Amino acid sequence: MRATQLSYLEPRQADEVIVNVASVPQRSPFRYPGGKTWLVPYVRRWLGSLPDHPAIFIEPFAGGAIISLTVAFERLAQHVLMVELDDQVASVWQIILSDDAAWLAKRIANFQLTPENVEKVLSTPAHQLRDKAFQTILKNRINRGGILAPGAGKIKHGEAGRGLASRWYPGTLRKRILSISAIRERLTFIHGDGLEVMRQHAQNSEAVFFIDPPYTAGGKRAGRRLYTHSELDHVALFQLANQLAGDFLMTYDEAPEVRDLARRFGFHVETVAMKSTHHAKMRELLIGRNLDWLR
Ligand SMILES: C[S@@+](CC[C@H](N)C(=O)[O-])C[C@H]1O[C@@H](n2cnc3c(N)ncnc32)[C@H](O)[C@@H]1O
Repeated sequence: MRATQLSYLEPRQADEVIVNVASVPQRSPFRYPGGKTWLVPYVRRWLGSLPDHPAIFIEPFAGGAIISLTVAFERLAQHVLMVELDDQVASVWQIILSDDAAWLAKRIANFQLTPENVEKVLSTPAHQLRDKAFQTILKNRINRGGILAPGAGKIKHGEAGRGLASRWYPGTLRKRILSISAIRERLTFIHGDGLEVMRQHAQNSEAVFFIDPPYTAGGKRAGRRLYTHSELDHVALFQLANQLAGDFLMTYDEAPEVRDLARRFGFHVETVAMKSTHHAKMRELLIGRNLDWLR
């Protein structure tokens, strides 16, 4: 198991057995800060508890989009809509869902990762979207923590002294990109504001929403250095969630402001435990109208 892989604890198990997320298929080409691989088994359970198969699954803050990809691959909804504001992240999704997916897969497979080649690629202005997508994947793999926001540092020593190449798995990335491309008719990507897209689908009772915003409620810093777009009107997000005709599941970090907001709108809150080998046991919040499926 790689050092930063996350494990999750099954909810409400008295003995808190730690299940390895290695059992969850990794489908995203990103290593994403705040990525939700550990939540995959919960989302399967949530969607399985709904009376109807959702017509559309919407992830308004998609990032590395592991949840959306899982829903699409496992056909847990008829269609999946991912939204992301960051233009670097967006370029990758746009290219993977376009006819240039094979170009990107090949570019990655053929790239010789040396410090000189990295420097050359990253210092050349990307004139085409597909060049930007390649730069983004490269940065995501060589920056510490996969952080793409300004100020992110590069991996120095990495695993087993592999340095910059520690997280560069070209064969795996190629396969993931081609697999997503093969099911692209099930996926739509919008480069835009997640709140706006939620508003557009608010009346659709056949839509469900998985909402994983940057964790900046209550002035928290955690989300600030991780993402270029970290400012969010959290009150507006809760108001909007309250207006959705379809069901939703929201995740947040533990913060009194978040619990207050949930209380104000009458949402249910549960804590789930997760653990990484880097961090001590951490808790995140699941928020929804009805979380009985967790029991
Ligand atoms: C916690 S991360 C999502 C992680 C994702 N669930 C995953 O598993 O990889 C939050 C994301 O929201 C994006 N974001 C911030 N504000 C946004 C907005 N108004 N609309 C859409 N995306 C936004 C950030 O760029 C970041 O990628």
